[in-house]
Amino acid sequence: MTDVVVVGSGIAGLFVATRCARAGLSTIVVTKKKLADSSTNWAQGGIAAAMNHSDLQAHIDDTIEAGCGLSDPEIVEMVVRESSERIGDLIASGVQFDSNEEGFDMAIEGGHSSRRILHAKDATGAEIERALIVEARSSPNLELLESHMAVDLILKDKNADIKEIDGIWVLTPTGDVRTIPAEAIIIASGGAGHIYRQTTNPSVATGDGIAMAHRAGAMVRDLEFVQFHPTALALMGERPFLITEALRGHGAVLMTNEDLQRWKHSEDEPSQYSFMLDYDSRGSLATRDIVARAADEEMKRTGDNCVWLVTSHLDEGELKERFPTIQKRLNKHRLELGVNPLPVAPAAHYMVGGISVDKNGLAQQCPSCSNPIQFTGLYAIGEVACTGLHGANRLASNSLLEAVVFSHRCAEHVIANLKPKHDKELPEWRADGLSDLVEHSPLKSDRIALQSTMTDDVGLVKRNARLQRAQRRLEFLRNEVDQIWRGSLPTREVIELRNMIHVSRLVTSAAISRKTNVGLHHNLDHD
Ligand code: SIN
Repeated sequence: MTDVVVVGSGIAGLFVATRCARAGLSTIVVTKKKLADSSTNWAQGGIAAAMNHSDLQAHIDDTIEAGCGLSDPEIVEMVVRESSERIGDLIASGVQFDSNEEGFDMAIEGGHSSRRILHAKDATGAEIERALIVEARSSPNLELLESHMAVDLILKDKNADIKEIDGIWVLTPTGDVRTIPAEAIIIASGGAGHIYRQTTNPSVATGDGIAMAHRAGAMVRDLEFVQFHPTALALMGERPFLITEALRGHGAVLMTNEDLQRWKHSEDEPSQYSFMLDYDSRGSLATRDIVARAADEEMKRTGDNCVWLVTSHLDEGELKERFPTIQKRLNKHRLELGVNPLPVAPAAHYMVGGISVDKNGLAQQCPSCSNPIQFTGLYAIGEVACTGLHGANRLASNSLLEAVVFSHRCAEHVIANLKPKHDKELPEWRADGLSDLVEHSPLKSDRIALQSTMTDDVGLVKRNARLQRAQRRLEFLRNEVDQIWRGSLPTREVIELRNMIHVSRLVTSAAISRKTNVGLHHNLDHD
């Protein structure tokens, strides 16, 4: 009998799972592909932390300013205050951050007023993932189920006032659906970047956790705040590859083609020629919402399909030493840091909203709902959750921090509150059988249609009529895929598409409901 099932194997999933297992709870991690197939593994820039007491207030202020005043101040303070201890935990788990003679080598990214980003060159997430996988593999009481996909949550009594978790249905690699009884489910399955055509996320990011929790009645919030990263490598026929904001922290400058032409003939600092100065006095290091929208606007104005990230005024050797992962990727395209301008464009990067949780990651009841649904045993941590830290726009490198702080708190809460095990008779998945079997063939085109709708109509910049159009198109897709879902054996493709449509509808209605422009939400029909 299992105590805890964790869905997802990024920083949040692995951190919480090893803590629960260490405390003697029998724990299972369910992950869709390999353990390392997570957004954490692709995170480049780093993890923000106030390692000196003197930086606490500034880190709090920067987070609240980036969040445009919509962050929950208590949560911001809690996360920042706990940051240095959690960094200590990661180091104890074997994570090696870069250091120099003075201590940690701290980087800076957009919206930060001081250097407070710990990193492992430009592959910080990969270093964290590596260490946590080693730790998880040697952890007692912990079973790691790769190539297993969560399908839906099992509730004890769907109609009860307090919804109690009873377990989870999971698709196995052989195509069966396994019923796993559990006392607690911790969803740590990451974001939903793949509802858009262009994303920096790995293929697993299809919004599964948000969709699954919402179907079970959990409250979601802030889903209109989808963060687009301004600098994803934009090369024809290639998936967008993240070019870390730390490169701009190191001095790289964004320019349009016109800016480049003007600058080419001068000896001046390139930053003075950047279009970004027309948008924000912080130039290329303004917060992400501002930089991504500015790049988008310039691309629309000039008709170009990218803007340029310029590094030729910086030391080539230093750049290649500090950003080896990026240079390795650029080699494929014969581009060099310190030499060539890099073509970049915004791409969907991070879901600020998600499953609404309290300060321990417990799925929350809705304070303003007339008929609030309360859960026991359902938790969400990491990108899939909405804690209130990020407000309307996430400050760079605060996401790994949020994940580790909430994973720690969640583990403590689960360990202290887990109910004694009881034998359960759980229903088999689809005990009522399938309706008439239907063809799967439209799946691929439906997925493309979904991504086009979200990109064209619910993207960086919105309009009322387009949001309404997206709603109609998504409803059509939902009906089509629902029919496939009800009449077919489950496959990863069907489950994912069903989840992607569910999350896209939530994002679209959230965007329709927010009537003022703030942070990442920008509708040209609003002020
Ligand atoms: C980056 O390295 O630019 C991404 C870091 C983040 O998303 O916080």
